[in-house]
Amino acid sequence: MKLENMVVGVIGLGMGALHLKGAIAYGAKIGMICDTDPERLKTVGEENEIPEEKRTTDYHDILNNKEINAVILATPDQQHREQVEALLAAGKHVMCEKPLALTREDLEGIVKAVEAHPECKFMIGQICRFTPAFVQAKQYIDDGTIGELYFVESEYAHDYVRMFEKNPKNWRSDPVRNGVVGGGCHAVDLLRWLVGADPSEIYAHGTHKMLPYVEYDDANLAIMKFPGDIMGKVFVSTGCKRGYTMRTCIYGTKGTLIFDNKSDTMEVYVMNEEGHGASTPKIVPVEVNNHNAAEEFRAFADALINEKEIEMNVYEGAKTVEACLAIIESSKTGKIVYPNYQF
Ligand SMILES: NC(=O)c1ccc[n+]([C@@H]2O[C@H](COP(=O)([O-])OP(=O)(O)OC[C@H]3O[C@@H](n4cnc5c(N)ncnc54)[C@H](O)[C@@H]3O)[C@@H](O)[C@H]2O)c1
Repeated sequence: MKLENMVVGVIGLGMGALHLKGAIAYGAKIGMICDTDPERLKTVGEENEIPEEKRTTDYHDILNNKEINAVILATPDQQHREQVEALLAAGKHVMCEKPLALTREDLEGIVKAVEAHPECKFMIGQICRFTPAFVQAKQYIDDGTIGELYFVESEYAHDYVRMFEKNPKNWRSDPVRNGVVGGGCHAVDLLRWLVGADPSEIYAHGTHKMLPYVEYDDANLAIMKFPGDIMGKVFVSTGCKRGYTMRTCIYGTKGTLIFDNKSDTMEVYVMNEEGHGASTPKIVPVEVNNHNAAEEFRAFADALINEKEIEMNVYEGAKTVEACLAIIESSKTGKIVYPNYQF
């Protein structure tokens, strides 16, 4: 496909508004934008100079629009399966916001739909894989700077209180939209990506002290075992009294990386020639860009225009959610859970 033939539709204009900007910055033609909330549709439409005839409150208009061939789906998680299935059946390439889905049944449904439509490209939007500090960490791990990994930890600490204060019936309060899948999937996906493998055993604990709006635990701690004798830890808190952060520490046999998604530097400890660890880290500057929608769109467009393989494929999305579901199950049962990554 040539860039001039790529026509983009965007469904859901919360995060979708950011993706819209990413698509416009890339130079893609916008076919139509959609939001069921007419106010949001108008605001985002006007902000981005999308003419009225290219705005709709019904995503079926995007489904039925023959010109649109690439769709960014950024609706509430509960709707992803039905809409992905419909978009693929209509022959659209799809980039779907994380999490892929909220239940095993829906994950399997989406995987099946993607497999049934090899003519359509599918990408899961795990945007953290484009966060500059995380990309830098991945390079240090892959080039051997910190040696062999033995312990990796990350967290998703985000106070959802303001979102619920604005609207207590926010779709995030649905019991099936547990914060571990909804937000924690960022930290789980980050570790899966940095390690390059899936946690085979998960043991977790949860508490509920912060968010009266939800029935699920608002804080969870998971201990994981990765292949290669690597230990993992994920902390998720959706009511924490602090700024949104994904603090991350990666320990290797030759060094240690300490970084997050909000700081403009990362700490890199590297062993010296005598085999001793540095007591002070090298401070490496990094760009702060927690929602790097421009690079995420570039990866999607690259797959369509330059026939590049999509690394963040449907299986990546499904495996990340499967690991999150294991955290939830273990928190409830107190037992070790062995996730099933067969999709
Ligand atoms: N990648 C990230 O860092 C990140 C951050 C936030 C949210 N998300 C994900 O993005 C998706 C959207 O979340 P959000 O924060 O933008 O939520 P939001 O509630 O702010 O926005 C969702 C929008 O979708 C609209 N909508 C709902 N149903 C629709 C439908 N059937 N057709 C068209 N529009 C519809 C709503 O009116 C709303 O404007 C979710 O999957 C969420 O998990 C990802």
